[in-house]
Amino acid sequence: MADLSVQLASLELRNPLLSASGTFGHGLEMQFLSPPERLGGLVSKTVSLLPRRGNDNPRIYETEAGFLNSIGLENRGIESYLESTLAEVADADCVVFTNIGGEREEEFVELARRLEERDEVDALELNLSCPNVQGGKLPFGTDPATAESVLRRVRDVSTKPLFAKLSPNVTRIGDMARAVEAGGADGVTAVNTLLGMAVDWRRRAWRLATKQGGYSGVGIKPVALRCAWECANAVDIPVIGCGGIANAEDVLEFLAVGCAAVQVGTASFSDPGLLGRLAGEVSALLDEHDVASVRDFVGCMDRPRPAKV
Ligand SMILES: Cc1cc2nc3c(=O)[nH]c(=O)nc-3n(C[C@H](O)[C@H](O)[C@H](O)COP(=O)(O)O)c2cc1C
Repeated sequence: MADLSVQLASLELRNPLLSASGTFGHGLEMQFLSPPERLGGLVSKTVSLLPRRGNDNPRIYETEAGFLNSIGLENRGIESYLESTLAEVADADCVVFTNIGGEREEEFVELARRLEERDEVDALELNLSCPNVQGGKLPFGTDPATAESVLRRVRDVSTKPLFAKLSPNVTRIGDMARAVEAGGADGVTAVNTLLGMAVDWRRRAWRLATKQGGYSGVGIKPVALRCAWECANAVDIPVIGCGGIANAEDVLEFLAVGCAAVQVGTASFSDPGLLGRLAGEVSALLDEHDVASVRDFVGCMDRPRPAKV
């Protein structure tokens, strides 16, 4: 049996399979379909300082190949997360990431401060796709200096491993990865959703109330794979690949280009048991190809091909 364990900064994960923020509940809602003990880690939906009701409906639309969403970071806020959600995930037998987001640097800082004393949280993931109200509402993750600054300020108040979740909606994502590494990030998640749009021309209606939304799912895999590869080549910290992963083959593609782990998002909506099954399927593929461990396999694209593959 292949050894699936991986190390992400200081974190030891039993396997490289994580849930993607916002697609797997807030806490343990999915535990009966994809039990935590079969995952490497759980990533929470983005938690903000204050409760957010999110955007108006319609805010999710299924395209020919994936989702468009404009949920608008609906969540009950940090108080509720600390009081109820964390009590629930305390017993989760896997690594727990809390994904945080805000519209000002101070909000990220305050969230990190509030989570610092909570041992149930193993790591923070910073959602840099949030609009920065002090920066003309452009997402934090579209300007290297802004991204570096928010990381630096969170680093000052947090001892937990910090993962910066990057937006693919930039010209050079490698520059963003370098910026968050300089700011003190312990890892990078690549990527969040792509900006997209859908219309119903017959009814002259937008498919989403916000007109634009985030595109995810199988359609974005080639873009996400390229982004993850670019990040892995740009930085020395681990990269978590995310975008369009729907089966074990996809997982191995992201690991092969240099990702130390992966997240599964949209695919969990149609198959909530997928994440729970993936470790077995990845392991079977690695065994079939005589790969003894995931750690040996990561970043193997530019290495000579073993005879049997
Ligand atoms: C319905 C929905 C809600 C999401 N909510 C969040 C969120 O709260 N925070 C975040 O960082 N990413 C969020 N994402 C982005 C996913 O975590 C992931 O980065 C993206 O969907 C690409 O992966 P996928 O193609 O496997 O879904 C959301 C995605 C979807 C589809």
